[in-house]
Amino acid sequence: MNALQPNTDESKVPAYTLPDPLIDIDGIRIDNHQDWITRRRPQILSLFEEHVYGKTPSASVAMSIAGTTLSPQALNGKAVRKEVSLRLKGKRNELYLDLLMYLPLGQEGPVPLFVGLNFHGNYTIHPDRELALTGKWVRNSERIGTTHNQASEGARGGFAQKWAVERILERGYGIATLYCGDLDPDYDDGFQNGVHPLFYGAGQTMPAANEWGTIGAWAWGLSRVMDYFELDDSVDQQRIAVMGHSRLGKTALWAGAQDQRFALVISNNSGCGGAALSRRRFGETVALINDRFPHWFCRNFRQYNENEQALPVDQHMLIALIAPRPVYIASAEQDLWCDPLGEFLALKHAGPVYRLLGTGGLEVAVKPPVGQPVLDTMAYHMRPGEHDVTAYDWERYLDFADYHFGHTTGKAMP
Ligand code: GCU
Repeated sequence: MNALQPNTDESKVPAYTLPDPLIDIDGIRIDNHQDWITRRRPQILSLFEEHVYGKTPSASVAMSIAGTTLSPQALNGKAVRKEVSLRLKGKRNELYLDLLMYLPLGQEGPVPLFVGLNFHGNYTIHPDRELALTGKWVRNSERIGTTHNQASEGARGGFAQKWAVERILERGYGIATLYCGDLDPDYDDGFQNGVHPLFYGAGQTMPAANEWGTIGAWAWGLSRVMDYFELDDSVDQQRIAVMGHSRLGKTALWAGAQDQRFALVISNNSGCGGAALSRRRFGETVALINDRFPHWFCRNFRQYNENEQALPVDQHMLIALIAPRPVYIASAEQDLWCDPLGEFLALKHAGPVYRLLGTGGLEVAVKPPVGQPVLDTMAYHMRPGEHDVTAYDWERYLDFADYHFGHTTGKAMP
């Protein structure tokens, strides 16, 4: 098979054996909670750092709040809108992140919240006329009419359908989002822009082969947003769900794996390098993703182009790093590029770790039919239709959050 020709024929999926998340690097079976936490989990985390996403710097940069704009009666009186500018200061340069939050009006006390990065700028997630256009580089999009890598008034609210802001608020949750390009613009510039240079040592001009790429930087940014939430008493820090779609779904999983402050992790159509098993080589493969997006992963990941069986991990182990916290993997029926079956199987094969930790795994033998979600600590659905985030997806995530957060404004799960 040509490496750059995707396969979408199930009969051509190669035979493969997955690494066992419960057998450690010395071949010892992990059979108790303690050994998982102290031995095996750190091993798996460092394998993902070394071979897939790259290591996140352990150094920290100073973050401060550069300004907050509060609008107590936004969206026709439905929400409080907060725009927070976060300043990151490295040794040689600094960077600003613009966080947007809508919080439901009239809720007593801190609110549970969904947080996720967006693809094109905060102003594209809602037609709200008060939202500032981003001044940063943006991806051109025919769909919303952005050209010359600049935000434009016509693109305001261009992706509002993917965000269900009103519905989230109605169900008593807040929503927070940050443009991924604030952290690292989504193109391969050899890591000269974005957050990477904030961490370069003397003479360093790019991350080493086992250091973070763009997905690593995006995930790191979600943790900085979490740091901010710890200072904001309108947010319930114990009830924060991280959610992401597609490349940002890969990011949500990696953020949730590394930062255990995220209480729920939701991956929407995340595919290769996200929830889908790499060894299946169905739809997008390691070679294809590294070819088109050389900046997303660490350079070491390229060793596994057409060589997935040599990977010391597969994506079920990424999901296992989230255990025992609730995790939701969602696929779309026509989204073969993302390998819906591979996404389901990764979730299923993370099940033994969840069971070891006492929460139960994914108790279904085969992938549930389209439109029949399985909702438990491990949740899955396959929605009809294409690669997207829809109202259907959000309703499920809200049910899932209600169930695990014991939130009372929405309907409970059966
Ligand atoms: C491309 C890429 C996927 C990614 C998707 C997206 O299709 O190949 O890996 O998930 O873009 O982010 O929309």
